[in-house]
Amino acid sequence: MTAQLLDGRAIAAQIRDDLARQIQQEKSTPGLAVILVGDDPASQIYVAKKCQDCEKVGIYSELKNLAVDIDQATLLAIIAALNVDSRIHGILVQLPLPAHIDAAAVLQTIDPRKDVDGFHPISMGQLALRQPGLRPCTPKGIMRLLVHTGVDLAGQHAVIVGASNHVGRPMALELLLNGCTITVCHRFTRDLPHHLRQADIVIVAIGKPQFIKADWIKPGAIVIDVGINRLADGKIVGDVDAAAAEHAAWITPVPGGVGPMTVATLLENTWQACQNSFLHPSPAPAGHPLPQGAREN
Ligand code: GUN
Repeated sequence: MTAQLLDGRAIAAQIRDDLARQIQQEKSTPGLAVILVGDDPASQIYVAKKCQDCEKVGIYSELKNLAVDIDQATLLAIIAALNVDSRIHGILVQLPLPAHIDAAAVLQTIDPRKDVDGFHPISMGQLALRQPGLRPCTPKGIMRLLVHTGVDLAGQHAVIVGASNHVGRPMALELLLNGCTITVCHRFTRDLPHHLRQADIVIVAIGKPQFIKADWIKPGAIVIDVGINRLADGKIVGDVDAAAAEHAAWITPVPGGVGPMTVATLLENTWQACQNSFLHPSPAPAGHPLPQGAREN
């Protein structure tokens, strides 16, 4: 068997086209603030991509690149100001943050109505309680890829490898919402190959190049590889051995699978937050200037 590719680039482009049309029709200007602390080269590339894609669909974006030694109180004050800025409907703080900053405190300071990353405890709680609001971008994007396969998800056994707050845990909640039976594997799991061989759907987010071997994949499984790892020779590979494509029915390429879906979903969430703001507006500080062409919502 040779797997069909789940082309995240193509599906993300469709999402952007749909968004651009809706935003144009509504004649509103959603706004996204992206906060990057420090100058990590990979994070700089990721945030630049997010801002570029905002421009493609008509979302106003502003990037705040802050010094690596910024103190936490100053960072929280910047977020508090964005919380009441009526141009801004979404706030994203690029992770990881430097060690001297308490990331949980930072994420909790974001107004949940502007939590386009879906990482606030309220957003995660809503997902856990089957009342999803703004949903974490990578798992939401992966659900879109799974729907694209046309496979009925109800009753499928999904095995997630990696139990992170931002991918593994919300991924389990998304799949549960869709009727899957879930196994979450992590560093204390015994006999990982045994669990994977039971899986109709495999989702791997561990950041270890080619860690998951091809013969651990059940014939006909759907394989979603969240990993993006750079080898010593510069090649980018996922967490799953590329030979898994010989066993799977569907597989995501790396790069060009999950990554573009995460960014497209962020744009979708920003538009959702903007639309929600018509219902629950946040106050603007007096005399706050709007960017040229932007409309007060
Ligand atoms: N760092 C790596 N991925 C992400 C993401 O999806 N959101 C944020 N905020 N930071 C990240």
